[in-house]
Amino acid sequence: MNVSTVPRTMRAAVIARPGGPDVIELRERPTPIPDTHEVLVRVHASAMNRADVLQRMGRYPAPRGAPADVPGLELAGTVVAHGPAAERWPVGARVFGLVAGGAHADYVALHEDTVAAMPGTMSWVDGGAVPEAFITAFDALEQAGARAGETVLIHAVASGVGLAAVQLARARGAVPLGTTRTTAKLERVLPLGLRGGFATDQGLDGLVPWVLASTEGRGVDVTLDLVGGPYLRTTIDAMAHRGRIVLIGTLAGAEATIALGVVLYKRLTIRGTVLRSRTLDERKRDAAAFGRDVVPLLARGAIHPVIDRVFPLERVADAHALVESNSTTGKVVVTMTDEPIPQAP
Ligand SMILES: NC(=O)c1ccc[n+]([C@@H]2O[C@H](COP(=O)([O-])OP(=O)(O)OC[C@H]3O[C@@H](n4cnc5c(N)ncnc54)[C@H](OP(=O)(O)O)[C@@H]3O)[C@@H](O)[C@H]2O)c1
Repeated sequence: MNVSTVPRTMRAAVIARPGGPDVIELRERPTPIPDTHEVLVRVHASAMNRADVLQRMGRYPAPRGAPADVPGLELAGTVVAHGPAAERWPVGARVFGLVAGGAHADYVALHEDTVAAMPGTMSWVDGGAVPEAFITAFDALEQAGARAGETVLIHAVASGVGLAAVQLARARGAVPLGTTRTTAKLERVLPLGLRGGFATDQGLDGLVPWVLASTEGRGVDVTLDLVGGPYLRTTIDAMAHRGRIVLIGTLAGAEATIALGVVLYKRLTIRGTVLRSRTLDERKRDAAAFGRDVVPLLARGAIHPVIDRVFPLERVADAHALVESNSTTGKVVVTMTDEPIPQAP
């Protein structure tokens, strides 16, 4: 490992105890030492995810091997050192990718095959906003087998994952529709590629008629459900025959009552997915697919992350509070180095 320029300690956002945003404290921690096939990355930017909030509350423990008290699932940064057998990236390479935790810190060590090369044209802020939302959305569309010409309904469409899914659905020729509880967010997201949107602020009653009106009576072919709970039952009624539902999140509740007869009759597929608990081999495959199929679209500007706010690491507690407020459209980024912070749209 080339340690000459790497400090022994670094700043990390530490969950001092389970609780609200104020339990996050910036503390000094030992800089990780990269293992055999790992690279050490100087993190320039990361972003917030719901898992960080749940972990802070004590409701989502980090998986084995990830730091128990430092959140952060994604990063964009520079390779600064290698483990003894890591040879894929030179020092100075710009990379981005996922970890199971610990990215809200100045340095992260991770397997060299779990990152992708970041386009030279992309800012650190944009890079930090990409991996979790775009890998989750891409992987879910793949699992659903979403094809050109098919309709894809995305619940909580103004979320980070939701807006990545809109663009990735479009990129494969599918037609994205979306829901949000906030009417004002629909105004913001419609110009971002959504074919049509439905505000659920008055409840879910009008959703099925709206979907049928938007799909010439067929229903949607694919749903990416980021919220779960009561949405699942209504979604089943909104599906076309042989439709595929991918359950990605449970913001609206982790339990649902569904009409099994409709699932049978329509021959629906319902599957759940999660990235964080995947094995190393699975994470390598995810990173390879991301590098092959998503990064080229980012590089030529065909898709891009939507960023709501940017906070320096010192203010990561404010980033937690903002995400919890449910007022955001797109990603909340956390920066570790001094890049000029862009204004919110
Ligand atoms: N399975 C995985 O591997 C994976 C990976 C990443 C994310 N996720 C999940 O995907 C979801 C979205 O994540 P994100 O980081 O993109 O979220 P985000 O940007 O924080 O946005 C979430 C949005 O969901 C809406 N929402 C919150 N509570 C809701 C409720 N009770 N009912 C309906 N809508 C609600 C809010 O918008 P409005 O109320 O304005 O609509 C909120 O802004 C989360 O559930 C997250 O846990 C899963």
